[in-house]
Amino acid sequence: MVQDQILLNDWHVIARSQDLQPGTVLHKRLLGSNIVLWHNGDKVLAWQDVCPHRGARLSLGYVNKETLVCPYHGLAFNSQGKCVLVPANPEQSPPAQACVKTYQVQERYDLLWVCLGTPKQDIALFSEWYDPVYQKIFCGPYYCSTVKIVFQVSPKARCTTNKIKGSTKNW
Ligand code: FES
Repeated sequence: MVQDQILLNDWHVIARSQDLQPGTVLHKRLLGSNIVLWHNGDKVLAWQDVCPHRGARLSLGYVNKETLVCPYHGLAFNSQGKCVLVPANPEQSPPAQACVKTYQVQERYDLLWVCLGTPKQDIALFSEWYDPVYQKIFCGPYYCSTVKIVFQVSPKARCTTNKIKGSTKNW
């Protein structure tokens, strides 16, 4: 996972709004973390993609009555990430520590934005977004694994760029 506080505390586009319909679940990667996005029928939620029970991927689960159900043992989590049902013991109250780590998410400009930390500012303003003069084109995501730039100050100044590797497979 990325440790850069500036990146962690900023908003990042993670998907298009149209990619997540009510009642559906998506897996995404953001800054080295696995994220589960799901739509409870009312709003979009973004959580760490790890079940607090035995670590299964919640993105392999499903939405049921405004809860996200883990695919492994069927624990159900409400919109706050709190476990509200343990199918093996439906009469018992779930343990208080059975909570999923949640992230802030916003829907703006037909895109879903997630912040993994504490946002230091609002999502950048794109005043042209709703201007019909402009055409919107979705592209990417693009991933750069390493960019190393070496500046050498000398009578014959040089700039060398190497190890640039690109892929369109991951965020
Ligand atoms: S791992 Fe999720 S319910 Fe057991």
